[in-house]
Amino acid sequence: MDLSGRHALVCGASKGIGRATAHALAARGAEVTALARSGEALESLTSELQASGATARSLVADLDDHDGLLAAVDALLEQVGPVHILVHNTGGPAGGPLLSAPAEALRAAFHRHVLSAHQLLQRLLPGMQEAGYGRMINVLSTSVYEPIPNLGVSNTTRAAMAAWAKSVSRELPSGITINNVLPGFTDTGRLAALKAGIASRTGKPEADVHAGWLAQVPEGRLARPEETAAAIAFLACPDAAYIRGVSLPVDGGRLRGI
Ligand SMILES: NC(=O)c1ccc[n+]([C@@H]2O[C@H](COP(=O)([O-])OP(=O)(O)OC[C@H]3O[C@@H](n4cnc5c(N)ncnc54)[C@H](OP(=O)(O)O)[C@@H]3O)[C@@H](O)[C@H]2O)c1
Repeated sequence: MDLSGRHALVCGASKGIGRATAHALAARGAEVTALARSGEALESLTSELQASGATARSLVADLDDHDGLLAAVDALLEQVGPVHILVHNTGGPAGGPLLSAPAEALRAAFHRHVLSAHQLLQRLLPGMQEAGYGRMINVLSTSVYEPIPNLGVSNTTRAAMAAWAKSVSRELPSGITINNVLPGFTDTGRLAALKAGIASRTGKPEADVHAGWLAQVPEGRLARPEETAAAIAFLACPDAAYIRGVSLPVDGGRLRGI
């Protein structure tokens, strides 16, 4: 589980699962570049990481703006060197019924998730190959296996991401793997926003929405972001070298399929 000498680029690192992942990778010895749009939140994260003895830096970039994103990543490669671990994680699409979603919502979600992942991997792969070590871990959702009601744009995009990752897992050379982690109900700002959205759409009190979620989870509670991050960190480690192309739920047992 030692990641000393490895450089990790964690996308969506300013909050939630991404932030916890930056901590988990740094705790295992990785140098961390934390990417998101909010510079201030990233600065507070990198200060925390540096205070715990890690080498860490912020990279302000937007996964919706691919020209800006790739320019920022090129500068990082130039100044710091290759990235060995890429955690692809970003904001999930808004909730709501799929039938009334504009086509633009699907296009924008595909752009933010699949196209940014594809281009980032293409950019980082040569450095991984040179190092003989590469890990890409995508943060998707349990909807890869069971679509979630009222998250149709997200469901569609996650399935596309899972298909992309599985396809690419067959093409990557030895030593470079790609896997997905599928969070269940995880206690972050994203989940709080979804709860508020459902409550205002249905008129149900937020407490009832929350209780309805917990009733689906054998573990009987929400995940802590650190628990999802631990799975991501494991997949990033040398120990996980023979795991490739899988989608790992971290959902407290909510998915019912075998
Ligand atoms: N929490 C859950 O229960 C749950 C369950 C299943 C799946 N997921 C999925 O897991 C992922 C992470 O979830 P989370 O709960 O940690 O979400 P979160 O707390 O909302 O954090 C999302 C992160 O993504 C960054 N981000 C959003 N849009 C971005 C963009 N265009 N470019 C760059 N960074 C961007 C945000 O930072 P900035 O705003 O600073 O850019 C933030 O750091 C999401 O895709 C979410 O849908 C979450």
